[in-house]
Amino acid sequence: MEQLGMLYEGKAKQVYLTDERDKVIIRYKDDATAFNNVKKAVIANKGVLNNRISAMIFGRLRDAGVENHYISTLGDRDQLCRRVEIIPLEVVVRNVIAGSMARRLGIEEGTIPPNVIYDICYKAEALGDPLVNDHHAVAMGIVTYDELRVIYDMADRINATLKALFASTGVTLVDFKIEFGRTEDGRIILADEISPDTCRLWDAETGEKLDKDRFRRDLGHVIEAYEEIYVRLSRVVGLAL
Ligand code: TMP
Ligand code: ASP
Repeated sequence: MEQLGMLYEGKAKQVYLTDERDKVIIRYKDDATAFNNVKKAVIANKGVLNNRISAMIFGRLRDAGVENHYISTLGDRDQLCRRVEIIPLEVVVRNVIAGSMARRLGIEEGTIPPNVIYDICYKAEALGDPLVNDHHAVAMGIVTYDELRVIYDMADRINATLKALFASTGVTLVDFKIEFGRTEDGRIILADEISPDTCRLWDAETGEKLDKDRFRRDLGHVIEAYEEIYVRLSRVVGLAL
């Protein structure tokens, strides 16, 4: 496997082509941004931890039958993944009200709703990744209604698997963001990353925040929280390296 040129650079990751056209190398960076790039920092070692945490989570999801892009871990920051065309939607799953939903609707953070909530946001930085609905996404030609059914069904299975996984480590999965991609043969699979950058994770007993909100809200001890999640997951998943 040979690494070729960079295909894409995002806020937290780089994607490299390889000499196999259906595979890419994803490199996890230490860069952190919040509020659409307004707040920026380098969090030493974050990329290493997110690479490992994502690998453990994708491995567990694969075992649970959720097809995803992760193939193998190549090094501290690098993972080999299937190349997909990312569908420009951020799919957010909420088990507990927090963050933008709490703010927008004036609901107290920590409120447990009677149902699971799914948001979709259009990935368009210039517009600030606006919240859209199914009809908007179909009207813009991003997905079909049938594809949305597949995406929501996968999101549901991902939530069930990850809620149980984190619960077994004493962590409440409050909410998370996932992205999907299309393979060359047109199937929709889970892609991107799942890590403390993209989840809200609260200690089940104390409610302590163990995720990127520590950075967004200047709570301090950011990397310690990521390490805590890594250590707890390692105990139940084992090293995915
Ligand atoms: P929100 O409450 O700010 O909408 O965030 C919901 C979840 O999605 C939370 O776990 C953080 C994650 N998220 C991302 O991964 N990337 C983003 O750009 C945003 C806005 C949220
Ligand atoms: N990653 C997003 C950004 O930079 C936001 C976030 O995770 O809060 O802007």
